[in-house]
Amino acid sequence: MATVRPAEIHDVVAIHHLIENYAAMGNLLPRPMNELYRHLRDFFVVEVDGRVVGCGALEIFTEILGEVRSLVVEESHKGLGLGRLLVERIMEEAANIGLSKLMALTYVPEFFHKLGFQTVDKDTLPEKVWGICVKCYKYGNCDEIAVLKNVKPR
Ligand SMILES: CC(C)(COP(=O)(O)OP(=O)(O)OC[C@H]1O[C@@H](n2cnc3c(N)ncnc32)[C@H](O)[C@@H]1OP(=O)(O)O)[C@@H](O)C(=O)NCCC(=O)NCCS
Repeated sequence: MATVRPAEIHDVVAIHHLIENYAAMGNLLPRPMNELYRHLRDFFVVEVDGRVVGCGALEIFTEILGEVRSLVVEESHKGLGLGRLLVERIMEEAANIGLSKLMALTYVPEFFHKLGFQTVDKDTLPEKVWGICVKCYKYGNCDEIAVLKNVKPR
């Protein structure tokens, strides 16, 4: 049985491990441990049989816009609906906070399309977002696809 819950301090090592595996393949941006501790409250994890097998984060950019970041499901648990559970929980959190738009930069737009996101031109996203991108090793050479979804603030 799968459970999605907010991340806790003892999950950081598992989250780091999940992200590192995909970061090494170039699918995700690496997140050093100190950054994960700082952003721990952004994260949700999904557990199966008491073990963390996936994670995802909600990062807030502006009064209206948040980003789904560091979304990962362990290879052995892919295709079981766990990625969907994580994004649905992040969408719920975004709505609870009062955000009205959620974006992601991704190599798997098809997954996000299944969850109601639409592909958009990266240039349509606020410059504030690109403030974050300046720090990225892919800056100026970003090949990720931007997807966006309206969420209904509660
Ligand atoms: C992307 C990822 C999180 C999806 O997680 P998952 O648990 O395998 O996805 P789910 O089982 O919840 O899939 C939900 C739906 O999306 C579809 N889907 C999942 N991955 C897909 C892909 N790569 N291409 C097309 N469709 C995909 C599923 O078929 C399913 O469709 P359905 O509802 O019609 O059955 C996972 O594959 C992953 O960790 N990938 C590597 C890291 C990554 O790229 N993360 C995204 C960064 S933004």
